[in-house]
Amino acid sequence: MRQHPIIAGNWKMNMTVGESITLVDALIANPNTQHATWIICPPYTHLAPIQDRIKHSVFSLGAQSISHHSNGAFTGDVSGSMLKSVGCRYVIIGHSERREYHNETPKILTQQLTQAFTHGLTPIFCVGETKKDRDNNLTTAVIEAQLIDSLVPVKPHLETLPFLIAYEPIWAIGTGVVASPEDAQQVHAYIRKKLNKLLPPEIANRTPILYGGSVSPENSRNLLDQQDIDGALVGGASLNADTFLAIGK
Ligand code: PGA
Repeated sequence: MRQHPIIAGNWKMNMTVGESITLVDALIANPNTQHATWIICPPYTHLAPIQDRIKHSVFSLGAQSISHHSNGAFTGDVSGSMLKSVGCRYVIIGHSERREYHNETPKILTQQLTQAFTHGLTPIFCVGETKKDRDNNLTTAVIEAQLIDSLVPVKPHLETLPFLIAYEPIWAIGTGVVASPEDAQQVHAYIRKKLNKLLPPEIANRTPILYGGSVSPENSRNLLDQQDIDGALVGGASLNADTFLAIGK
């Protein structure tokens, strides 16, 4: 819980550029944005026109992924320096949809983290368990492995540069089934404990840990009231200005 939660919108593969500009114009026209730190993560094709719209606003730009290579013959990929050059400040890394549909392994995610840090982008590193993991009491074991596998190799960067963690239980993403505030808090506290094992306490304790998975204006307050929930990574509800902004009120 922090006085100003961090609310990040992950638009995924939704909206044309024109539709997204309509959304962003509604966001920046709303005066009730002073109670949160706002990040929006449009598709690659939308980054430059959206940044043009939000550059003098309270909204910061993030990308949904990043190449694990720095440049070269990687057709269809987008590099850290490209993201930086259009004004991105953040990048989502390790989203479960990327892990699953694009076979992004822990090693690739470590390389993506390195690319982000090298180019001055702040990673939002996602972890989360499946329903089966949870049913088999494997939640903390899965989260621990995801954290250790990808973060330990970039420890020197973590000690000097900002980063965020997002806990996104896979069974809660896009399902309307949100984790209870108590269950989410339990995992966030566990992540905090692991960060404290890996990093000096002043870094571990100030690293924001966002919750993601079916966050809506109806459930966000109880989640954000939890001690170790510092913000939200929002999918579906970020596609509408009113519901997105209501989450950070
Ligand atoms: P959701 O998506 O809010 O639509 O569940 C969250 C996410 O995948 O980041």
